[in-house]
Amino acid sequence: MKIITVDSYEELGSRAADVMGAQVIMKPNCVLGLATGSTPLSLYQELIRRNKAGILDFSRVRTVNLDEYVGLGIESDQSYVYFMRKNLFEHINIDMNNTHLPNGLNSDVYAECARYDAVIESLGGIDMQLLGIGHNGHIAFNEPADSFTVNTNCVDLQQSTIEANARFFAKADDVPKKAYTMGVGAILKARRILIIASGEGKADIVREMIKGPVTPKVPASALQMHRNVTVILDKGAASKL
Ligand code: GLP
Repeated sequence: MKIITVDSYEELGSRAADVMGAQVIMKPNCVLGLATGSTPLSLYQELIRRNKAGILDFSRVRTVNLDEYVGLGIESDQSYVYFMRKNLFEHINIDMNNTHLPNGLNSDVYAECARYDAVIESLGGIDMQLLGIGHNGHIAFNEPADSFTVNTNCVDLQQSTIEANARFFAKADDVPKKAYTMGVGAILKARRILIIASGEGKADIVREMIKGPVTPKVPASALQMHRNVTVILDKGAASKL
């Protein structure tokens, strides 16, 4: 793992934009795996700025997102498809037809998981996958478990994840209990991985991800088995390494 530590959350966004921007410049029709959550926001702001400044061109870029809540679609402002449109896609010159997320409104779990795996496959796999990390070590919505997931699956969210994500909803009860998520196996198939974390609250789990044993109890620890991972941390997130 290549570990980069920066001073601030803003700098985290600009260093991550350097890495992702380099991918877009090297391969203009690359497949980017994208993530939601608070952590990528400074990165997305910087990608938007560079696009508007004419430095980055997204016209041929394809994207696949990690996950989506079951039961939520574009009409819900808590859905991840809505998040991606408002925080990135509507502000850059990407073709919306080239953006993909699991469809939270498809209640046929088997069909939706198979469809999403086929989408990733049809794009030729992921060139660079962006990840955040949950406080319990989850990546995408792959929660701590007894085994690693491989393909897209439908998960029951842990209570701690529901509570952590309740800040985006009116009340914790409104947080969906299930989500579709790309599997850990699919994430590991990405040719490059960029994982970002911010704040002291993530310091313990960041240390476990990097220095702890590889275990499905800490899904992010699986990244130790990948040959091309860049970790960008601000001072707080790096404080226990
Ligand atoms: C959610 C997402 C993850 C994300 C995590 C951390 O649960 N499914 O992909 O990494 O939250 O979010 P944050 O960046 O807000 O801490």
